[in-house]
This record gives sequence, structure tokens and C-alpha cells, in this order.
Amino acid sequence: MLVNYGYLHQQFGEVDEYIEDLRHLVSTGEFTLGPFVEKFEKKFAEYIGVKHVISTNTGTDALILALKSSGIKYGDEIITVPNTFYATVGAIVAVGAQPVFVDCDKRMQIDPDLIVQAITPKTKGIVPVHWMGCPADMDRIMKIANQHNLVVVEDACPAVGATVNGKRCGSFGKANGFSFHPLKPLNVWGDGGSITTDDDDVAEFLTRYRNHGMTDRDHIEMWGINSRIQPIQAIVATKVLDTVDHSNDIRIRNAQLLDQGLSDLEEYINFPERSSKYKDVYQLYVIQAKKRDQLVEYLQSQEIECRVHYPCPLHLQKAAKEMGHKGGDFPECEKQADEIITLPAHQYIVPEQIEYIIEHTRKFYLP
Ligand SMILES: Cc1ncc(COP(=O)(O)O)c(C=O)c1O
Repeated sequence: MLVNYGYLHQQFGEVDEYIEDLRHLVSTGEFTLGPFVEKFEKKFAEYIGVKHVISTNTGTDALILALKSSGIKYGDEIITVPNTFYATVGAIVAVGAQPVFVDCDKRMQIDPDLIVQAITPKTKGIVPVHWMGCPADMDRIMKIANQHNLVVVEDACPAVGATVNGKRCGSFGKANGFSFHPLKPLNVWGDGGSITTDDDDVAEFLTRYRNHGMTDRDHIEMWGINSRIQPIQAIVATKVLDTVDHSNDIRIRNAQLLDQGLSDLEEYINFPERSSKYKDVYQLYVIQAKKRDQLVEYLQSQEIECRVHYPCPLHLQKAAKEMGHKGGDFPECEKQADEIITLPAHQYIVPEQIEYIIEHTRKFYLP
């Protein structure tokens, strides 16, 4: 039985429901910003529970612009984790700031205790990542940030729909970044992203900055860039937003079935700590497994398409050479990198496929 990792052909195979809006877009010629983008931004702001959404070209741009609009600049130290996608750190470096890594916890999220230890007089902010669509401990992080006068920019790229005590990720920090990359919970036909904020000044700055700094066609008050979302992607995002909660619910069901079905393999498998305080939307379903590489090979041979996100943490990447880190600096991240495996649990995986994954994982450890 094939257990497919990719699902975009299933999700977007039927284009008819988009055609009417696409025809309308083409007939109006509103190809840069305009009403389709405005409609999406309003709807997404209501969904996340913030005053403003400013959409961007990518999630990476959303993070860069969120940091810039929050006042982060050259030389500032920004605390984040080494177990994330490259773009978290790329965005910090892009605004001239200095990333400072701290280890993650047993939930695979930034460890708040270690944030406190990493604060120096140069620390200006924290970028918690809701890694795998699982929320960071935002209550504690916001408390630490307030005590130390630090800015929080959530990397909520993989976490549309995730919550902490019922409050949505992307509504805690001063300005926060989301990605609409095809493999994110709210996904489009290419790249896209958004910044969420309650801050009127941040929103005003970003609305202009992402559009060349223009106040109108003939005037600018500052130098900006072009980081506009494509209206075609805003149309797709507006539609997908209607179904994202349903897709997340199926992912959650699949994750629970996998957790239950694999729970008696505790000698071989470790799950991230689960807590009812968080709604994890499982953009990735990740567990730690003994003999990981052999397990990946075996499952692949049984047509179960699994992945590893990621085998090398960021502090050990060549790009981080100047930071001077070595193996052993972040033991929890490093142990996880050696053992993690991502199993397919997306919204098109059915319980029979979950059973098949469980059966073969069991066969691998208990032949
Ligand atoms: C945690 C995280 N941050 C940032 C990004 C960057 O988003 P994008 O690919 O839309 O630039 C991604 C996804 O790609 C991500 O998973």
C-alpha cells in the first residue's frame, strides 16, 4: 500500500472551485495587491484574532519584515532555536541582527529556562518557532520578554490554527510571520506569507514598506521593497482558509492514531511531550526512533514515504561557522536530529494507511 507524503495533487486536483475568482481577477486586471488581497487580509486577521494582516511574497519575507518593523537592527542579539528551518535564522541575519541559539525541550520547542540564561545587554528579541505546527510555550515566553523588555516575533510559519490555551499562534508577538508554502497548513499555489500584528504603527509601516514605501503612486516617504503577495495566491489562500480547521482536525486524528498505535514500542520510540494546553496542528508528525536511518530505509521499501526534518541542526551547518559552535553545545537538539523521523499524517491519509504504518513499524522492531 502506498502511503504518500505529498498530497498537493489531491488537494488541488480539482480547480473548478477557483475558476470564477480567477476569471474575475483576470477581467479586472488587479494583478498587484487590490481587492482580492484585501479580502484575504481581513479574513485572516479575523481568523488569527489580530487587528492587522499584511501579506507578503513568502514566509521568509514575513519574518524579515516582522523583525524590521519591530525595530530589530544591526548588532541586536535575537534568541532562537537551532532546530528549525533555515529561514528563521536567515531572516534574523537579513536584518543585520545576531542569532543566539538555545536548546529545545522535550516538546521539541524552544526551552524557556534556557532563554533566560542566554539574555545579555545586547539581547533585543526572541523568535520562538512553532516548530512542526506545535506551539512554543508562549505564556512563559511573553512573561520573560516583558520582564526583560524584549520584542517577540513568532515564527508561526508552520502553525496556522495552532493555539496555546485557546489563543492562536501568531497573536502573541509584536509582529509575527506565517508561510503559505505548499507544504504548510494554509497553502497556496507557490509562495506566499503574512505578518500578523495588533500594532497600528507596525501595520502602517509594513503596508507601505512591502510596496516600495509608496504613500501613493507618485510619492514615497521612505525607501521600501516589493514583497507583495500575488493576488492569485490571495484567492487560493482565501479558499483554503475555509477548510484549514477541518484539515487540521484530520491531521490531529491521524497523529492520535499513530501515538496510540505506536505507544507500546516505548523501548524504541519516543514521542514529543503532549499537553492539552496546546493545540498542535501537526504540519509535521515527528517522533524519535531508535535505529532511525534503518527504519527510514525499511519504511520506504514498504512504500511508506517518510522524511527527516532535519538531520543536521543549524548550529552545525557550514553557514553557522562564524558562531563557533561545536557538537554537544545543544544536546537535546542534537539527539533529536539523530533520531527524528517524519511520518505521513496529513489530511489525505486514511486510517487504513495509519494501520499500515503502525504494522510495519512494529515489524521493523519486533520481527
Ligand atoms: C519554521 C519556518 N520558518 C520559515 C519558513 C519560511 O517560509 P517560506 O518558505 O514561505 O519562505 C518555513 C517554511 O518554509 C518554516 O518552516
